[in-house]
Amino acid sequence: MAIIGKNLETACELLIAGGVVAIPTETVYGLAGNALSEEAVDKIYTTKNRPKNNPLIVHISDINYLQEYVKSIPLAAVKLSEKFWPGPLTMLLPKGSPVIDGVTAGLPNVAVRMPAHPLTLELLNMLPFPLAAPSANPYGYISPTTARHVNKQLGDKIKYILDGGPCREGIESTIVGFDDEMAVIYRKGVITPDDIKKVTGSVKFNQNPEHKHITSGMSPSHYSPKTSVCLTGDINNLNITLPSENIGLLTFKNTFPITSRRKQIALSPKGDLAEAAKNLYEALHKLDSMHLDLIIAEYVPDEGIGIAINDRLIRAAHKIIAEENHINKK
Ligand code: TXA
Ligand code: MG
Repeated sequence: MAIIGKNLETACELLIAGGVVAIPTETVYGLAGNALSEEAVDKIYTTKNRPKNNPLIVHISDINYLQEYVKSIPLAAVKLSEKFWPGPLTMLLPKGSPVIDGVTAGLPNVAVRMPAHPLTLELLNMLPFPLAAPSANPYGYISPTTARHVNKQLGDKIKYILDGGPCREGIESTIVGFDDEMAVIYRKGVITPDDIKKVTGSVKFNQNPEHKHITSGMSPSHYSPKTSVCLTGDINNLNITLPSENIGLLTFKNTFPITSRRKQIALSPKGDLAEAAKNLYEALHKLDSMHLDLIIAEYVPDEGIGIAINDRLIRAAHKIIAEENHINKK
């Protein structure tokens, strides 16, 4: 198992030696390595068992570093970085020459973000290079929002997990690219389309199916527990045959009589979407460790942060019932 601690020197030494270290961010834990080293970037892919055609996000601690790694910055991107950095926003920008192909998987853009976690910002300030970091989970599995989640999934493959406590936001950053000055959303997140539109004046969703394959956050099956997940809009009117009584429920705020209370998790009993986002992955990790025959999950209201939560639920689900009735297809 890995060592879990708060020692920035230890993390620094391992990263400078070309190793990988799990780091906290406000969204999810990342598996970090030197973004300018082919060797370190290679280790990230192997540790996660991630296909090499799936590029990584570069994490920086200061907006001034942005121009070192990108060729040009649209005005819309400047405005978004001023508003949301440090924070859960990743921007796709034309890659500059110091960025290695391993990071971008040969694509013309590089993904950059400034995370809002004091420990990781301090770590970045101590290092002479930026950090490439995908979420610290085996490829395709649920993202980690605590050091314990990382240790359970990757503890036998890495030496050190920098413990920054439970992640404040709980789902991955919103990814935005640019079509000239038009902001294009590639992955939904805590920063909503409306938040972006307020800054840039307009926003659209990426519709390019080719890119959807490249961006794993866009692939139909992702963030998945090992237990089957059935997603529905109405738990009271489920029209499926349950495999047994050994089922779990993942709901927005209510509990239901179809299984024992012990096997039910309400993401936010008071009905708060930000709290639901924060609790989503912890709930999936927990239910997945209970040896259930099935997890039935319920959509959250499809508004604000709920849009990104539903996006993750759809990708986690193996079976979806009556999707059209509950989600505005975007
Ligand atoms: O909140 C987050 O963004 C977390 C924390 C650790 O920062 N990171 C994260 O990384 O979610 P990852 O690798 O699990 O997801 C990044 C997504 C992937 O779907 C990847 O395909 C896409 O970003 N991506 C990265 N670089 C890209 C590029 N150059 N062009 C297009 N898509 C890119
Ligand atoms: Mg990921």
